[in-house]
Amino acid sequence: MKLYIETVGCQMNLLDSELVVASLRKDGYELTASIHDADTILFNTCSVRQHAEDKIYSALGRLKDAKRQHPDKVIGVLGCMAQKDQGLIFRRASYVDLVVGPGQLHQLPRLVREIRKAGGQRMEVSLGRKEGSREQIERSHESFDPLRDPAMRTTPFQAYVRIMIGCDKFCTYCIVPSVRGPEQSRPAAEILAEARQLAGEGCREITLLGQTVNSYRQSDGQRAWRLSDLLESLHAIEGIDRIKFVTNFPKDMTDDLLAAVRDLPKVSKYLHLPVQSGSNAVLRRMKRGYTVEEYRNVLARARDWIPGASVTSDFIVGFCGETEGDFQQSMDLVRQSRFKNGFIFKYSQRPGTQGAKLYADDVPDEVKRRRNNDMLQLQNQISEQDNQPFLGREVTVLVEGPSKTAEKQGDAGERLQLIGRTHCDRIVVFTGNRRQIGQFLPIVIYDANAHTLFGEMVAQPAGPERIERLQPVVMAPPSHGQ
Ligand code: SAH
Ligand code: SF4
Ligand code: F3S
Repeated sequence: MKLYIETVGCQMNLLDSELVVASLRKDGYELTASIHDADTILFNTCSVRQHAEDKIYSALGRLKDAKRQHPDKVIGVLGCMAQKDQGLIFRRASYVDLVVGPGQLHQLPRLVREIRKAGGQRMEVSLGRKEGSREQIERSHESFDPLRDPAMRTTPFQAYVRIMIGCDKFCTYCIVPSVRGPEQSRPAAEILAEARQLAGEGCREITLLGQTVNSYRQSDGQRAWRLSDLLESLHAIEGIDRIKFVTNFPKDMTDDLLAAVRDLPKVSKYLHLPVQSGSNAVLRRMKRGYTVEEYRNVLARARDWIPGASVTSDFIVGFCGETEGDFQQSMDLVRQSRFKNGFIFKYSQRPGTQGAKLYADDVPDEVKRRRNNDMLQLQNQISEQDNQPFLGREVTVLVEGPSKTAEKQGDAGERLQLIGRTHCDRIVVFTGNRRQIGQFLPIVIYDANAHTLFGEMVAQPAGPERIERLQPVVMAPPSHGQ
Protein backbone atom coordinates (compact mmCIF):
# COMPACT_ATOMS: atom_id res chain seq x y z
CA MET A 1 0.00 0.00 0.00
CA LYS A 2 1.23 3.45 -0.86
CA LEU A 3 1.17 6.58 1.25
CA TYR A 4 1.53 10.16 0.03
CA ILE A 5 1.96 12.89 2.62
CA GLU A 6 2.29 16.64 2.20
CA THR A 7 3.47 18.76 5.11
CA VAL A 8 3.27 22.51 5.68
CA GLY A 9 4.03 24.55 8.79
CA CYS A 10 6.77 24.46 11.38
CA GLN A 11 9.36 21.90 12.47
CA MET A 12 6.82 20.44 14.87
CA ASN A 13 4.76 19.39 11.85
CA LEU A 14 7.79 17.97 10.04
CA LEU A 15 8.49 15.82 13.08
CA ASP A 16 4.85 14.76 13.36
CA SER A 17 4.85 13.74 9.69
CA GLU A 18 8.03 11.70 10.14
CA LEU A 19 6.40 9.86 13.03
CA VAL A 20 3.09 9.39 11.17
CA VAL A 21 4.92 7.82 8.25
CA ALA A 22 6.89 5.59 10.60
CA SER A 23 3.71 4.40 12.31
CA LEU A 24 1.94 3.64 9.02
CA ARG A 25 5.00 1.80 7.74
CA LYS A 26 4.38 -0.70 10.51
CA ASP A 27 0.99 -1.34 8.86
CA GLY A 28 2.68 -2.12 5.57
CA TYR A 29 2.61 1.29 3.88
CA GLU A 30 5.44 2.60 1.80
CA LEU A 31 5.96 6.24 0.85
CA THR A 32 5.34 7.45 -2.67
CA ALA A 33 6.22 10.85 -4.14
CA SER A 34 3.28 10.62 -6.53
CA ILE A 35 -0.15 11.61 -5.30
CA HIS A 36 -1.73 9.62 -8.18
CA ASP A 37 -0.20 6.31 -7.09
CA ALA A 38 -1.20 6.65 -3.47
CA ASP A 39 -3.85 4.58 -1.68
CA THR A 40 -3.77 6.97 1.25
CA ILE A 41 -3.23 10.73 0.90
CA LEU A 42 -2.49 12.79 3.99
CA PHE A 43 -2.08 16.53 4.47
CA ASN A 44 -0.36 17.67 7.65
CA THR A 45 -1.62 21.21 7.91
CA CYS A 46 -0.85 24.60 9.48
CA SER A 47 -3.19 27.39 10.57
CA VAL A 48 -0.71 30.07 11.51
CA ARG A 49 -1.62 32.23 8.50
CA GLN A 50 -4.59 32.18 6.12
CA HIS A 51 -2.33 31.45 3.18
CA ALA A 52 -1.24 28.10 4.69
CA GLU A 53 -4.88 27.05 4.98
CA ASP A 54 -5.84 28.22 1.48
CA LYS A 55 -3.07 26.07 0.02
CA ILE A 56 -4.49 22.94 1.65
CA TYR A 57 -8.11 23.65 0.70
CA SER A 58 -7.10 24.10 -2.93
CA ALA A 59 -5.03 20.90 -2.84
CA LEU A 60 -8.12 19.13 -1.46
CA GLY A 61 -10.24 20.65 -4.23
CA ARG A 62 -7.95 19.14 -6.82
CA LEU A 63 -8.59 15.67 -5.38
CA LYS A 64 -12.34 15.73 -5.88
CA ASP A 65 -12.28 13.92 -9.23
CA ALA A 66 -9.62 11.45 -8.17
CA LYS A 67 -11.77 10.42 -5.24
CA ARG A 68 -14.83 10.03 -7.48
CA GLN A 69 -12.87 7.75 -9.79
CA HIS A 70 -11.16 5.84 -6.95
CA PRO A 71 -13.51 5.90 -3.96
CA ASP A 72 -11.23 3.53 -2.05
CA LYS A 73 -8.48 6.15 -1.76
CA VAL A 74 -8.30 7.41 1.82
CA ILE A 75 -7.90 11.19 2.13
CA GLY A 76 -6.94 12.58 5.51
CA VAL A 77 -6.35 16.04 6.96
CA LEU A 78 -4.03 16.11 9.99
CA GLY A 79 -2.47 18.80 12.13
CA CYS A 80 -3.38 22.29 13.23
CA MET A 81 -6.04 23.05 10.61
CA ALA A 82 -7.73 19.73 11.42
CA GLN A 83 -7.95 20.84 15.06
CA LYS A 84 -9.11 24.33 14.12
CA ASP A 85 -11.67 23.57 11.40
CA GLN A 86 -12.81 20.10 12.50
CA GLY A 87 -16.17 19.21 10.82
CA LEU A 88 -15.94 22.25 8.55
CA ILE A 89 -13.38 20.28 6.54
CA PHE A 90 -16.00 17.61 5.74
CA ARG A 91 -18.47 20.35 4.83
CA ARG A 92 -16.01 22.04 2.48
CA ALA A 93 -14.74 18.75 1.00
CA SER A 94 -17.26 15.98 1.59
CA TYR A 95 -14.94 13.34 0.13
CA VAL A 96 -12.37 13.74 2.91
CA ASP A 97 -12.37 10.56 5.03
CA LEU A 98 -10.35 11.57 8.02
CA VAL A 99 -9.68 14.60 10.23
CA VAL A 100 -7.10 14.20 13.03
CA GLY A 101 -5.78 16.97 15.28
CA PRO A 102 -2.12 17.13 16.33
CA GLY A 103 -2.96 15.88 19.83
CA GLN A 104 -4.62 12.72 18.49
CA LEU A 105 -2.08 11.42 16.00
CA HIS A 106 -1.52 8.25 18.01
CA GLN A 107 -4.98 7.12 16.79
CA LEU A 108 -4.14 7.50 13.12
CA PRO A 109 -3.09 3.95 12.15
CA ARG A 110 -6.23 2.50 13.75
CA LEU A 111 -8.48 5.09 12.05
CA VAL A 112 -6.99 4.41 8.62
CA ARG A 113 -7.47 0.65 9.15
CA GLU A 114 -11.11 1.17 10.15
CA ILE A 115 -11.88 3.33 7.14
CA ARG A 116 -10.24 0.82 4.80
CA LYS A 117 -12.35 -1.95 6.27
CA ALA A 118 -15.71 -0.33 6.85
CA GLY A 119 -15.65 3.03 5.07
CA GLY A 120 -17.25 6.13 6.56
CA GLN A 121 -15.72 9.32 7.90
CA ARG A 122 -13.70 9.63 11.12
CA MET A 123 -12.71 12.65 13.15
CA GLU A 124 -10.51 12.76 16.26
CA VAL A 125 -9.65 16.14 17.74
CA SER A 126 -8.59 17.42 21.15
CA LEU A 127 -10.59 19.58 23.54
CA GLY A 128 -10.63 23.33 22.96
CA ARG A 129 -9.06 25.64 25.55
CA LYS A 130 -12.40 26.18 27.29
CA GLU A 131 -13.90 22.70 26.89
CA GLY A 132 -12.88 21.18 30.20
CA SER A 133 -10.62 21.45 33.22
CA ARG A 134 -6.93 22.18 32.62
CA GLU A 135 -6.17 18.55 33.38
CA GLN A 136 -8.77 17.21 30.95
CA ILE A 137 -7.60 19.52 28.20
CA GLU A 138 -3.97 18.59 28.82
CA ARG A 139 -4.80 14.92 28.63
CA SER A 140 -6.65 15.37 25.36
CA HIS A 141 -3.52 16.85 23.73
CA GLU A 142 -1.17 13.89 23.69
CA SER A 143 2.42 14.29 22.64
CA PHE A 144 2.99 11.90 19.74
CA ASP A 145 6.35 10.32 20.43
CA PRO A 146 6.34 6.68 19.39
CA LEU A 147 9.61 4.80 18.94
CA ARG A 148 11.68 6.37 16.20
CA ASP A 149 12.22 4.59 12.89
CA PRO A 150 15.71 5.55 11.66
CA ALA A 151 14.77 4.76 8.07
CA MET A 152 12.15 7.50 8.12
CA ARG A 153 14.43 10.45 8.70
CA THR A 154 15.36 12.14 5.44
CA THR A 155 18.78 12.74 6.95
CA PRO A 156 19.57 9.88 9.38
CA PHE A 157 22.36 11.86 11.02
CA GLN A 158 19.97 14.66 12.07
CA ALA A 159 16.79 14.52 14.13
CA TYR A 160 14.19 16.71 15.74
CA VAL A 161 13.41 15.86 19.34
CA ARG A 162 10.25 17.23 20.90
CA ILE A 163 10.69 18.52 24.42
CA MET A 164 7.39 20.36 24.83
CA ILE A 165 4.00 20.58 23.23
CA GLY A 166 1.47 23.41 23.25
CA CYS A 167 1.79 27.02 24.29
CA ASP A 168 0.39 29.15 27.11
CA LYS A 169 1.59 32.58 25.99
CA PHE A 170 -1.53 33.54 24.05
CA CYS A 171 0.02 36.28 21.92
CA THR A 172 -3.10 37.98 20.59
CA TYR A 173 -2.38 37.31 16.89
CA CYS A 174 -1.57 33.63 17.32
CA ILE A 175 -3.67 30.49 16.77
CA VAL A 176 -1.07 28.05 18.15
CA PRO A 177 -2.25 27.93 21.80
CA SER A 178 -5.75 26.96 20.71
CA VAL A 179 -4.75 24.31 18.17
CA ARG A 180 -1.75 22.83 19.97
CA GLY A 181 -3.28 23.04 23.44
CA PRO A 182 -1.73 23.78 26.83
CA GLU A 183 2.02 23.99 27.33
CA GLN A 184 3.31 20.61 28.54
CA SER A 185 6.93 19.58 28.97
CA ARG A 186 7.98 16.00 28.25
CA PRO A 187 9.75 14.14 31.06
CA ALA A 188 13.52 14.63 30.87
CA ALA A 189 14.14 10.89 31.16
CA GLU A 190 12.11 10.26 27.98
CA ILE A 191 13.93 12.97 26.07
CA LEU A 192 17.33 11.66 27.14
CA ALA A 193 16.37 8.07 26.29
CA GLU A 194 15.24 9.18 22.84
CA ALA A 195 18.46 11.11 22.27
CA ARG A 196 20.54 8.11 23.36
CA GLN A 197 18.64 5.87 20.99
CA LEU A 198 19.15 8.35 18.15
CA ALA A 199 22.87 8.57 18.92
CA GLY A 200 23.07 4.78 18.84
CA GLU A 201 21.55 4.86 15.35
CA GLY A 202 24.21 7.25 14.09
CA CYS A 203 22.46 10.57 14.63
CA ARG A 204 25.01 13.39 15.09
CA GLU A 205 22.81 16.47 15.46
CA ILE A 206 19.60 16.94 17.37
CA THR A 207 17.31 19.96 17.37
CA LEU A 208 15.07 20.30 20.41
CA LEU A 209 11.58 21.52 19.57
CA GLY A 210 9.05 23.56 21.49
CA GLN A 211 6.88 26.58 20.68
CA THR A 212 8.65 28.29 23.57
CA VAL A 213 11.48 25.83 24.04
CA ASN A 214 13.24 27.86 26.71
CA SER A 215 10.15 27.79 28.94
CA TYR A 216 10.80 24.05 29.44
CA ARG A 217 10.07 23.06 33.04
CA GLN A 218 9.77 19.54 34.30
CA SER A 219 10.02 17.95 37.69
CA ASP A 220 10.48 14.19 38.07
CA GLY A 221 10.18 13.99 41.85
CA GLN A 222 13.94 13.93 42.31
CA ARG A 223 14.94 17.12 40.60
CA ALA A 224 13.62 20.03 38.62
CA TRP A 225 14.76 20.32 35.02
CA ARG A 226 15.13 23.47 32.96
CA LEU A 227 16.35 23.66 29.37
CA SER A 228 19.88 24.36 30.62
CA ASP A 229 19.83 21.13 32.66
CA LEU A 230 18.59 19.18 29.67
CA LEU A 231 21.33 20.64 27.48
CA GLU A 232 23.96 19.60 29.99
CA SER A 233 22.71 16.00 30.11
CA LEU A 234 22.31 15.79 26.34
CA HIS A 235 25.82 17.17 25.96
CA ALA A 236 27.19 14.12 27.77
CA ILE A 237 25.74 11.69 25.21
CA GLU A 238 28.51 10.09 23.17
CA GLY A 239 27.88 10.41 19.43
CA ILE A 240 25.76 13.55 19.55
CA ASP A 241 27.99 16.35 18.29
CA ARG A 242 25.62 19.24 17.81
CA ILE A 243 22.61 20.39 19.75
CA LYS A 244 20.22 23.16 18.66
CA PHE A 245 16.91 24.31 20.06
CA VAL A 246 13.98 26.38 18.71
CA THR A 247 11.98 28.59 19.40
CA ASN A 248 12.91 30.87 22.28
CA PHE A 249 10.53 33.21 24.03
CA PRO A 250 12.47 36.42 24.83
CA LYS A 251 11.13 36.77 28.36
CA ASP A 252 12.28 33.29 29.33
CA MET A 253 15.89 33.77 28.19
CA THR A 254 17.47 33.17 31.59
CA ASP A 255 21.13 33.43 32.61
CA ASP A 256 21.49 29.70 33.23
CA LEU A 257 20.49 29.06 29.61
CA LEU A 258 22.88 31.66 28.21
CA ALA A 259 25.65 30.17 30.34
CA ALA A 260 24.84 26.66 29.06
CA VAL A 261 25.02 27.85 25.45
CA ARG A 262 28.32 29.59 26.19
CA ASP A 263 29.92 26.71 28.10
CA LEU A 264 28.78 23.57 26.28
CA PRO A 265 30.79 23.21 23.07
CA LYS A 266 28.29 20.90 21.38
CA VAL A 267 25.49 23.45 21.78
CA SER A 268 25.25 25.70 18.73
CA LYS A 269 25.94 29.36 19.42
CA TYR A 270 22.73 30.11 17.63
CA LEU A 271 19.54 31.55 19.09
CA HIS A 272 16.21 31.99 17.35
CA LEU A 273 14.69 34.81 19.38
CA PRO A 274 11.54 36.18 17.74
CA VAL A 275 10.74 39.78 18.68
CA GLN A 276 7.71 40.44 16.36
CA SER A 277 7.84 44.26 16.56
CA GLY A 278 10.08 47.16 17.54
CA SER A 279 7.22 49.28 18.85
CA ASN A 280 6.07 49.09 22.46
CA ALA A 281 2.53 50.05 21.51
CA VAL A 282 2.35 47.13 19.06
CA LEU A 283 4.06 44.70 21.46
CA ARG A 284 1.48 45.62 24.07
CA ARG A 285 -1.40 44.91 21.70
CA MET A 286 0.28 41.65 20.73
CA LYS A 287 0.51 40.81 24.44
CA ARG A 288 4.09 39.68 24.11
CA GLY A 289 4.85 40.53 27.72
CA TYR A 290 8.06 42.53 27.14
CA THR A 291 9.08 45.98 25.94
CA VAL A 292 11.55 46.75 23.16
CA GLU A 293 14.01 47.88 25.83
CA GLU A 294 13.72 44.53 27.58
CA TYR A 295 14.25 42.71 24.29
CA ARG A 296 17.31 44.82 23.52
CA ASN A 297 18.62 43.90 26.95
CA VAL A 298 18.17 40.18 26.37
CA LEU A 299 19.93 40.52 23.04
CA ALA A 300 22.80 42.52 24.55
CA ARG A 301 23.16 39.93 27.30
CA ALA A 302 23.21 37.09 24.75
CA ARG A 303 25.84 38.83 22.63
CA ASP A 304 27.89 39.73 25.66
CA TRP A 305 27.90 36.24 27.13
CA ILE A 306 28.22 34.31 23.89
CA PRO A 307 30.72 36.02 21.62
CA GLY A 308 30.04 35.36 17.95
CA ALA A 309 26.53 34.10 18.63
CA SER A 310 24.22 34.24 15.64
CA VAL A 311 20.73 35.40 16.43
CA THR A 312 17.69 35.17 14.18
CA SER A 313 14.28 36.71 14.69
CA ASP A 314 10.69 36.84 13.49
CA PHE A 315 8.72 40.00 12.70
CA ILE A 316 5.07 40.56 11.94
CA VAL A 317 4.39 43.66 9.82
CA GLY A 318 1.01 45.32 9.52
CA PHE A 319 -0.41 44.14 12.84
CA CYS A 320 -3.62 45.93 13.85
CA GLY A 321 -3.05 49.64 14.29
CA GLU A 322 0.62 49.55 13.21
CA THR A 323 1.47 53.11 12.12
CA GLU A 324 4.32 54.14 9.86
CA GLY A 325 6.09 55.31 13.04
CA ASP A 326 5.65 51.88 14.67
CA PHE A 327 7.01 50.24 11.54
CA GLN A 328 10.03 52.55 11.48
CA GLN A 329 10.78 51.49 15.05
CA SER A 330 10.80 47.87 13.87
CA MET A 331 13.18 48.92 11.07
CA ASP A 332 15.44 50.60 13.65
CA LEU A 333 15.49 47.41 15.67
CA VAL A 334 16.42 45.38 12.57
CA ARG A 335 19.14 47.91 11.72
CA GLN A 336 20.64 47.80 15.20
CA SER A 337 20.22 44.14 16.11
CA ARG A 338 22.16 42.66 13.19
CA PHE A 339 20.26 39.39 13.06
CA LYS A 340 21.75 36.55 11.02
CA ASN A 341 18.39 36.44 9.28
CA GLY A 342 14.90 37.61 9.90
CA PHE A 343 11.66 35.85 9.08
CA ILE A 344 9.11 38.51 8.19
CA PHE A 345 5.38 37.87 7.97
CA LYS A 346 2.41 40.01 6.97
CA TYR A 347 -0.18 39.94 9.72
CA SER A 348 -2.94 37.47 8.94
CA GLN A 349 -6.02 37.69 11.13
CA ARG A 350 -6.90 34.36 12.77
CA PRO A 351 -10.52 33.81 13.76
CA GLY A 352 -10.91 32.95 17.41
CA THR A 353 -7.79 34.80 18.60
CA GLN A 354 -7.93 37.76 20.96
CA GLY A 355 -6.42 39.90 18.22
CA ALA A 356 -9.36 39.20 15.93
CA LYS A 357 -11.80 39.98 18.72
CA LEU A 358 -10.18 43.16 20.04
CA TYR A 359 -8.60 44.93 17.09
CA ALA A 360 -9.47 45.70 13.50
CA ASP A 361 -7.18 44.30 10.79
CA ASP A 362 -6.79 47.87 9.53
CA VAL A 363 -3.47 47.97 7.70
CA PRO A 364 -4.20 47.64 3.96
CA ASP A 365 -2.59 44.69 2.23
CA GLU A 366 -0.47 46.85 -0.07
CA VAL A 367 0.98 48.61 2.97
CA LYS A 368 1.73 45.26 4.62
CA ARG A 369 3.41 44.13 1.41
CA ARG A 370 5.52 47.29 1.14
CA ARG A 371 6.61 47.07 4.78
CA ASN A 372 7.43 43.39 4.34
CA ASN A 373 9.61 44.17 1.28
CA ASP A 374 11.36 47.12 2.93
CA MET A 375 12.24 45.09 5.98
CA LEU A 376 13.37 42.11 3.94
CA GLN A 377 15.62 44.33 1.86
CA LEU A 378 17.19 45.89 4.95
CA GLN A 379 17.70 42.51 6.62
CA ASN A 380 19.23 41.05 3.45
CA GLN A 381 21.77 43.89 3.31
CA ILE A 382 22.72 43.19 6.91
CA SER A 383 22.90 39.43 6.39
CA GLU A 384 25.15 39.91 3.39
CA GLN A 385 27.43 42.36 5.21
CA ASP A 386 27.74 40.10 8.23
CA ASN A 387 28.63 37.11 6.06
CA GLN A 388 31.64 38.92 4.56
CA PRO A 389 33.97 38.30 7.55
CA PHE A 390 33.69 34.59 6.74
CA LEU A 391 35.66 35.06 3.50
CA GLY A 392 38.93 33.17 3.77
CA ARG A 393 37.88 31.57 7.03
CA GLU A 394 37.61 27.87 7.71
CA VAL A 395 34.35 26.54 9.11
CA THR A 396 33.22 23.04 10.01
CA VAL A 397 30.00 21.97 8.35
CA LEU A 398 27.73 19.02 8.88
CA VAL A 399 27.01 17.93 5.31
CA GLU A 400 23.24 17.71 4.86
CA GLY A 401 22.86 16.57 1.25
CA PRO A 402 22.77 17.70 -2.39
CA SER A 403 22.25 21.44 -2.96
CA LYS A 404 19.04 22.62 -4.59
CA THR A 405 20.90 23.05 -7.88
CA ALA A 406 22.23 19.48 -7.73
CA GLU A 407 18.76 18.19 -6.94
CA LYS A 408 17.20 20.13 -9.79
CA GLN A 409 19.79 18.78 -12.21
CA GLY A 410 19.05 15.28 -10.94
CA ASP A 411 22.78 14.88 -10.38
CA ALA A 412 23.33 11.16 -9.86
CA GLY A 413 27.13 11.09 -9.94
CA GLU A 414 29.50 10.75 -7.02
CA ARG A 415 30.81 14.33 -7.23
CA LEU A 416 28.16 16.97 -6.83
CA GLN A 417 27.26 20.24 -5.23
CA LEU A 418 26.46 19.74 -1.55
CA ILE A 419 25.09 21.85 1.22
CA GLY A 420 26.20 21.80 4.81
CA ARG A 421 25.57 23.91 7.86
CA THR A 422 28.01 25.58 10.22
CA HIS A 423 27.68 25.30 13.98
CA CYS A 424 26.17 28.82 13.94
CA ASP A 425 23.52 27.65 11.45
CA ARG A 426 24.88 29.22 8.27
CA ILE A 427 24.32 27.38 5.00
CA VAL A 428 27.46 26.49 3.05
CA VAL A 429 27.50 25.32 -0.57
CA PHE A 430 30.54 23.42 -1.88
CA THR A 431 31.47 20.65 -4.28
CA GLY A 432 32.09 17.30 -2.68
CA ASN A 433 31.41 13.66 -2.73
CA ARG A 434 28.13 11.91 -2.13
CA ARG A 435 29.77 9.71 0.53
CA GLN A 436 30.43 12.82 2.61
CA ILE A 437 26.76 13.39 3.37
CA GLY A 438 26.36 13.08 7.12
CA GLN A 439 30.00 13.91 7.91
CA PHE A 440 31.62 16.93 9.51
CA LEU A 441 33.97 18.59 7.03
CA PRO A 442 36.32 21.58 7.14
CA ILE A 443 35.47 24.09 4.44
CA VAL A 444 37.21 27.33 3.48
CA ILE A 445 34.84 30.10 2.43
CA TYR A 446 35.58 32.11 -0.72
CA ASP A 447 32.27 33.87 -1.42
CA ALA A 448 29.13 34.90 0.42
CA ASN A 449 25.72 36.42 -0.20
CA ALA A 450 22.90 37.16 2.22
CA HIS A 451 21.81 33.56 2.72
CA THR A 452 24.68 31.37 1.62
CA LEU A 453 28.41 30.93 2.08
CA PHE A 454 30.33 29.31 -0.79
CA GLY A 455 33.41 27.29 -0.03
CA GLU A 456 35.68 24.42 -0.85
CA MET A 457 37.00 21.49 1.11
CA VAL A 458 40.23 21.79 3.01
CA ALA A 459 42.84 19.07 2.52
CA GLN A 460 43.74 18.88 6.21
CA PRO A 461 40.89 17.98 8.52
CA ALA A 462 40.84 20.76 11.06
CA GLY A 463 38.42 23.00 12.81
CA PRO A 464 37.01 23.12 16.25
CA GLU A 465 34.66 20.16 16.19
CA ARG A 466 35.57 16.59 16.95
CA ILE A 467 38.40 16.17 14.52
CA GLU A 468 38.87 12.61 15.69
CA ARG A 469 35.41 11.74 14.43
CA LEU A 470 36.00 12.98 10.90
CA GLN A 471 35.96 10.25 8.32
CA PRO A 472 38.97 10.19 5.98
CA VAL A 473 38.42 12.74 3.25
CA VAL A 474 39.37 11.80 -0.28
CA MET A 475 40.44 15.00 -1.93
CA ALA A 476 39.65 16.00 -5.44
CA PRO A 477 41.04 19.07 -7.19
CA PRO A 478 39.30 22.21 -5.92
CA SER A 479 36.73 23.68 -8.23
CA HIS A 480 35.31 27.17 -8.29
CA GLY A 481 32.67 26.45 -10.84
CA GLN A 482 29.55 26.62 -8.71
N1 SAH B 1 6.29 29.72 18.97
C1 SAH B 1 7.07 30.46 18.10
C2 SAH B 1 6.55 30.46 16.67
C3 SAH B 1 5.14 30.69 16.41
S1 SAH B 1 4.61 30.73 14.76
C4 SAH B 1 7.23 31.83 18.70
O1 SAH B 1 6.62 32.17 19.66
O2 SAH B 1 8.01 32.57 18.21
C5 SAH B 1 6.00 31.38 13.89
C6 SAH B 1 5.91 32.82 13.56
O3 SAH B 1 4.78 33.07 12.76
C7 SAH B 1 5.77 33.74 14.73
O4 SAH B 1 6.97 34.02 15.36
C8 SAH B 1 5.17 34.97 14.11
O5 SAH B 1 6.16 35.83 13.64
C9 SAH B 1 4.39 34.41 12.92
N2 SAH B 1 2.94 34.48 13.13
C10 SAH B 1 2.22 33.88 14.10
N3 SAH B 1 0.91 34.20 13.98
C11 SAH B 1 0.81 35.02 12.89
C12 SAH B 1 -0.27 35.70 12.25
N4 SAH B 1 -1.51 35.61 12.71
N5 SAH B 1 0.00 36.44 11.16
C13 SAH B 1 1.27 36.54 10.69
N6 SAH B 1 2.32 35.94 11.26
C14 SAH B 1 2.10 35.18 12.35
FE1 SF4 C 1 2.13 31.84 19.29
FE2 SF4 C 1 3.10 33.52 21.07
FE3 SF4 C 1 2.88 30.93 21.66
FE4 SF4 C 1 4.69 31.72 19.92
S1 SF4 C 1 4.63 32.28 22.08
S2 SF4 C 1 3.29 30.00 19.69
S3 SF4 C 1 3.71 33.41 18.89
S4 SF4 C 1 1.21 32.36 21.28
FE1 F3S D 1 1.50 26.01 11.96
FE2 F3S D 1 0.66 24.47 13.87
FE3 F3S D 1 3.26 24.87 13.55
S1 F3S D 1 -0.29 26.35 13.22
S2 F3S D 1 3.33 26.93 12.71
S3 F3S D 1 1.94 23.87 12.13
S4 F3S D 1 2.18 24.62 15.45
